[in-house]
Parts: sequence; C-alpha cells; structure tokens
Amino acid sequence: MPVLPATDDAIAQAAQALARGETVAFPTETVYGLGANARNAEAVAKVFAAKERPRFNPLIVHVPGLAAAETYAAFNDTARTLAHAFWPGPLSLVLPKRPDSGIADLVTAGLDTIALRAPNHAVAQALLAATSLPIAAPSANRSGRLSPTEAAHVAQELGERPAMILDGGPCARGIESTVVRVTGDAPVLLRLGAVPREAIEAVLGRTLAVAEEDAPIASPGQLERHYAPQTPLRLDAKDVEADEALLAFGSSVPTGARQTLNLSAAGDPTEAATNLFAALRALDQSGASAIAVMPIPDHGLGEAINDRLRRAAKAR
Ligand code: TXA
Ligand code: MG
Repeated sequence: MPVLPATDDAIAQAAQALARGETVAFPTETVYGLGANARNAEAVAKVFAAKERPRFNPLIVHVPGLAAAETYAAFNDTARTLAHAFWPGPLSLVLPKRPDSGIADLVTAGLDTIALRAPNHAVAQALLAATSLPIAAPSANRSGRLSPTEAAHVAQELGERPAMILDGGPCARGIESTVVRVTGDAPVLLRLGAVPREAIEAVLGRTLAVAEEDAPIASPGQLERHYAPQTPLRLDAKDVEADEALLAFGSSVPTGARQTLNLSAAGDPTEAATNLFAALRALDQSGASAIAVMPIPDHGLGEAINDRLRRAAKAR
C-alpha cells in the first residue's frame, strides 16, 4: 500500500492499477475515495471488502463531467441544470441508470438508479483522464467510521488494502458531497453535504424535498449509525470538563479541556466543514472520556455539519 505523492507518474501507475482491477485511494475536494473500475464487479467487490461495508450500500461513480455522465444515466432538464451549476464539484446526482451503461450491478446495489459526480480536484480529474474508466468510489474509510480527509487517514483506515494511496494533501472541503435524487419532477435531498441546501434551492428556484430518514430506498448515508468516532460525543456543550476534549467553534471558547481543537475561530461554517473530520479523528485519539462539541449555527454548511455530529453522537 504505498502512499505516493500524486505526481503524473504515480497517477499513471494508479490508472494501470485500476485497469488491472485493483483499488486505488485518491483525493477529491470532499474526502478521499477508495476507487475501482465501475465496470468490473470483481474490482468493486474489493472496495466493499476493504471497507467491510454492507453490500446493499450503492457507490458514487466519478466521471470527468456531464458528457461522460450522460452515457451512464438519463438526465432531465433539472438534472442538467444542477450539473451545469455545480459540476465539477461536490454534488452527487442520483439518476435513472441507462440500461446500456455497462456499470456493474454491484456498484448500484441492484438499483435502477445510479449516483454520479464530477469531482473538482486536479488529481481526481487527472486520474479520470488517465484511466478513461468510470471510477466507483465511496469514502476511503471502514464502514461506519469517519471519512478520511488526508492520505495518512486512509492508511490508518485501510492499511495494506488499497493497491495504492495517491497523496494530494488535505481535502479542501472536508465533508462529503451533497446527494440529490432527480428521478422524477421533484428533486429530493438524500444527503446533506458540501453544497449547502440553499445553494441548490437558489439554482432550482424551489425548495428541495428531503427524503424520509428511514425511507427504504433512501441514501444509506442517512443511516443513523454512521460517521462515528470511538469516543462519546456531548453535543451543544457550553462548558467543558477537565477529562473531556473540546471541539470548539467561534471565538469565545471555554477553557480547561484536556485538548481543544477549534473548527473555525472566525465562526465560518465552511471553514468548519473543512476541519470537521480531521479534528474529530484527532480528538478521538486524545484519550478523553468524551468530546464536548460547541453549538454550530444550523445554516449554510452548518446544517450538514450538525447532521454528521448528530449521527456520530447517536452511533454509540
Ligand atoms: O464526497 C463524496 O461523495 C465521497 C467522495 C469520495 O466522492 N464519496 C462518498 O461516497 O461519500 P459514499 O459511498 O461514502 O457515500 C455515497 C452515498 C451513500 O449515502 C449512498 O447511499 C448514496 O451516496 N448513493 C449512491 N448511489 C445511490 C443510489 N443509486 N440511490 C440512492 N443513494 C445512493
Ligand atoms: Mg462514506
């Protein structure tokens, strides 16, 4: 499992590994993904095995852009509008899968829909160009754990399992893509993520329906048990105990914690999203009895951050 700086040469090697049916971890603007050739069910099975992920979770297929995406899925006007507005970028679209897509059924867990996204990251785009294969890639963590936002996190999570880990530095966004289903007239928000709900609603000129938490075909990103550190979380903390670690937000931070990391001293939810998983991972390793989490305003990316924090708190 070499961790390799993402040079042209390393990207070419990664493309060869994908073509041979191996898995490769690579950076995107959201989090690191564990990629496999989406046309090769055996390669995709290695992704599920590495993540120890339940089989029924469908994967996002990464493409260079809209032209490639249209060969795998049926876009209506709404889907095209969203792709034009947000691609390349952290929006995944769940669309009707084309019968001739050639995508392995394992990728979509047998559903007749497929999740597609064009990542906005130079290394991810270079890898897509070098392989010219569709890359199925979930976040490169073991199932139910925090998403990795640095190459070293991937190595911690998956060890020797990927054939290669391409190191492109820390992820700029730090939180997973927003997932929107566009299979009928009314688009449905399946997972809060790096594109704020308001930004999508502004482009569409309508409010987004939100999928029921436990709807059967909903995005499993909605499962309550998800994104979990080992240490219990105490949300909405206004003070902190000496044996606790503190996940802070804003400029007025209680003192006395065993260790404190501030998601954004400036109180900026976008900066906070970027730091969220790395900070949780670090505080999880601090030996604290609990991680106290200061309140984060529930607007913009704060909505997605609070969603992840609630799941992490419930997961125990
Ligand atoms: O930012 C991201 O989206 C990262 C990077 C690597 O691109 N990927 C990621 O993948 O978070 P993953 O597998 O951890 O999450 C994919 C989400 C899951 O909630 C999954 O259930 C949903 O997308 N999904 C995928 N295909 C779907 C489908 N056909 N219908 C409904 N939900 C789907
Ligand atoms: Mg994930």
